Amino acid sequence: MEAIKRTKIADVLASKAFGATVHVKGWVRTRRGGKQVNFIALNDGSTVHNVQIVVDVNTLGEEFLKPVTTGSCIGVNGILVESQGQGQDAEIQAKEIRIYGTADPAAYPLQKKGHSFEFLREIAHLRPRTNTFGAIFRIRHHMAIAIHTFFHDRGFFYFHTPIITASDCEGAGEMFQVVTANDFFGKQASLTVSGQLEGELAAMALGAIYTFGPTFRAENSNTPRHLAEFWMIEPEVAFNEIAENMQLAEDFIKYCIQWALDHCLDDIRFLSQRVDKELIERLDFVLKQQFVRLSYTEGVKILEEAVAKGHTFEYPIFWGADLASEHERYLVENHFKCPVILTDYPKEIKSFYMKQNDDGKTVRAMDVLFPKIGEIIGGSQREEDYTKLSERAREMGVPTKDIWWYLDTRRFGTAPHSGFGLGFERLLLFVTGMANIRDVIPFPRTPNNCEF
Ligand code: 4AD
Ligand code: MG
Repeated sequence: MEAIKRTKIADVLASKAFGATVHVKGWVRTRRGGKQVNFIALNDGSTVHNVQIVVDVNTLGEEFLKPVTTGSCIGVNGILVESQGQGQDAEIQAKEIRIYGTADPAAYPLQKKGHSFEFLREIAHLRPRTNTFGAIFRIRHHMAIAIHTFFHDRGFFYFHTPIITASDCEGAGEMFQVVTANDFFGKQASLTVSGQLEGELAAMALGAIYTFGPTFRAENSNTPRHLAEFWMIEPEVAFNEIAENMQLAEDFIKYCIQWALDHCLDDIRFLSQRVDKELIERLDFVLKQQFVRLSYTEGVKILEEAVAKGHTFEYPIFWGADLASEHERYLVENHFKCPVILTDYPKEIKSFYMKQNDDGKTVRAMDVLFPKIGEIIGGSQREEDYTKLSERAREMGVPTKDIWWYLDTRRFGTAPHSGFGLGFERLLLFVTGMANIRDVIPFPRTPNNCEF
């Protein structure tokens, strides 16, 4: 058989070019049928929909078809026809089949439908071949394009910040060390927890930038919302103050959600049938809401009132406490029933770089809190005053000698500026309706988990 030129199954199904000769290649989901006719459900990853291949057993031969089992890879030349059967509009009447690779049914682990997500994590090398993970990884791609498009269209520059760094932006001491046999950098180096500090340098030159890359945190929190390696988007804008920063965050996240509905509706529909019945409703709902803006102090008051009325939280709530996801979700899901942007947190629980408010107690932080997720974005207006910033760094034990270059921006042409970080996988949790962050990144890194 001649080499088959591949056409994506998504395009073949959309074409409705009945009578045309088509060439598809993909992985067999199932083969069923009897002595006369066989039906192969073929998927090539371009869409959640399989194409049905109709095979005349006598023409191709029963022996030839034997290795065409679930998981095998084949190419098909055939004619696209309107389907007589139920469940699909179009099917392909096979003229030729080429078998690229077999998959021993006794060994191939994806035989039956409905494997648990836990089991599929153990075969992360194969799970992109399932409908659910195919959908998730296609959506992941489209979200990345949405992010670049949003910022590019608004005049932001994509700025690449280093992955290996010597400074701990968040000051939480959760860095993975980078070691070599010969002290390569001549100083202690780590994997970055955030591109923000370098991003700020760029904003002070290019005006508006964003980063989009992997970040690493060695926090030992085994939760459905934490990864040791995750991707973060961090815009930083010169002259923006906190109100503009909040508006940017709200516009940005809504843009991404709208993009998902516009570009991934097939996959979102599939996930809403299989994973989360309220998914589409929730996406539409968030798009319609103007996010509530509220101070931390007001938020804590609401939470304390809830406790007084008998609501119980696992973690104590009081002014000065770091909010747990249960607190954040209470505000969003029970109280406001709407995404919330919480601002002006106590300075003790936030990083050294945040702009200090005049009250001496709070800083101009902003966290965007989402239904089902809790914190999806964390950001702030930055302290632009050299003295205040370096004093706060010293108070918080951040070694100022290591960040002299960061402090220099406040010596040379400082200006108000703001930015935030969106956790890419947290956005994907929201857009896909998945419950565990390990299921929206191809190869999750969590404590004791680095197989693939
Ligand atoms: O709130 P964070 O720690 O903020 C920063 O890193 C700032 N430097 C951002 C900035 O202002 N430029 O992290 C930002 C977001 C969180 O809101 C959350 O969505 C996500 O990153 N995130 C995580 N996602 C997955 N796993 C983890 N371990 C995460 N830690 C934070
Ligand atoms: Mg945060």
